[in-house]
Amino acid sequence: MAVAIEVSEESPQAVACDALVVGAHSTTEGGFDLVAPGPAVDEATEGHLRGYLTSAGFKAKLGEVVILPSFGHLVAQAIAVTGLGPAGTAGASEVRRAAGAAARHLSGRAVVASTLHSAVEGNGAAAAAEGYLLGSYRFTAYKSRVGDHKLERVLFLGSGAEAIERGVAYASATALARDLINEPGSALTPELLAERAVELAAGANLDCTIWDVAEMSERGFGGILGVGRGSANPPRFIQVHYKPPSATVKLAIIGKGVTFDTGGLSLKDARNMEEMKTDMSGAAAVLGAMSVVDQLGLAAEVMAFIPATENMPGPTAIKPGDVIAHYGGTTSEVLNTDAEGRLILADALAFASQQKPAAMVDLATLTGSIMLALGRKCSGLFATDDALAQELIAAGEAAGERYWRMPLFDDYNKELESETADIKNIGTRYGGSIFAALFLKKFVPEGVPWAHLDIAGTARNETATDEVPKGGTGVGTRTLLEWISSRAGA
Ligand code: BES
Ligand code: MN
Ligand code: ZN
Repeated sequence: MAVAIEVSEESPQAVACDALVVGAHSTTEGGFDLVAPGPAVDEATEGHLRGYLTSAGFKAKLGEVVILPSFGHLVAQAIAVTGLGPAGTAGASEVRRAAGAAARHLSGRAVVASTLHSAVEGNGAAAAAEGYLLGSYRFTAYKSRVGDHKLERVLFLGSGAEAIERGVAYASATALARDLINEPGSALTPELLAERAVELAAGANLDCTIWDVAEMSERGFGGILGVGRGSANPPRFIQVHYKPPSATVKLAIIGKGVTFDTGGLSLKDARNMEEMKTDMSGAAAVLGAMSVVDQLGLAAEVMAFIPATENMPGPTAIKPGDVIAHYGGTTSEVLNTDAEGRLILADALAFASQQKPAAMVDLATLTGSIMLALGRKCSGLFATDDALAQELIAAGEAAGERYWRMPLFDDYNKELESETADIKNIGTRYGGSIFAALFLKKFVPEGVPWAHLDIAGTARNETATDEVPKGGTGVGTRTLLEWISSRAGA
């Protein structure tokens, strides 16, 4: 990540930079209040700052940014005022979003000084660092010319600039996830995803084991092998393991790694099929989180499992009506080859359960239905354990990611009964996300607390907002890190 976050002892009036960022709260009268050191900066401009903002109709709405020249009143070339919304509701999430919005508006300037972190107590600096880094993220791997993006350094002024490293680690984990998601499908096959996992594990003090088709066959991973069968690029099973001596708890995280989902023989139509390179976002979040667990020194053993495959309609592809046997022996009748995520996760969940984790969380771009239910700014959460559900919702709140708990109704299982096999892989049309989750639940034994995050709606962003640019969002990465931290007692 190119942008550096640094702490500076300079005053807002004297700091040399291209722009100085100041926060503001909206007021009930429809105006704004500058957050310290805003009033002092206004004084240095002889009141022109407030005057300009008022005449420009600035309301300090969350994410609103106004940039004006300093006209020599400050050493800074320009002043950027960023809205935090009402004072009562402004917390770490608001600082993260405001910093993200500022970063996107200021991307043409090299050096920015910021006072946003001081708008909240405690974790303001980590949130602000995340916001600047996440908001300035770009995927430029395939651009021969990289526009006018110049942001290089952000200087945090004033006290309270603590825990910046944590914010930087969270942001770099998210950026890694975004990079993986934004890679075209043919540039990130299961084999190449496995290679990336090996590389990152080597650099992050983690163990990594990759199983190929032969090794999965030996163990009976029929779901992954079945889905991978129609493809020229064979599937892989990726395992990454973090086991610090300090560990007091063992956790498992699992990510759906469909590197491209055509639907298989139940082929998707052409419209927006390119978005299906996003279908490994669960895997990306898991790998992103794993990339920094050691650096953050989290006192938990974390086992990560990624079933990685393409879903292609090749000549040897699985056919609607085929029956496959998952790891552990449960059989499923594949009535729709486009419901492939649950087939590969079934193997992974059954296998992960055998390691007896204290809790297990999977992330998957599993169903279009979750988008219909919750929209694009909230992920679905299914859980067999109330405490785990609460922990994940709280972790999401701390991370700036929203989850809504969905039901696992027992009587709905009726719809998954198959004439031929133990279960079938689709239910009825309505409530599709619930059937997908209930399918997964069959592979989780009693006694293993489990949660499933359906991120199909949130994994990709169509219009840049605040700290989330267009494209892969890396959703789930920071929720996982917050959750692991909370379980590790950090
Ligand atoms: N990867 C898709 C889900 C998806 C859809 C993710 C849109 C992101 C955006 C998944 O494999 C899928 O195709 N699900 C089907 C299931 C259906 C056939 C029961 C769906 O949701 O339509
Ligand atoms: Mn599919
Ligand atoms: Zn899929």
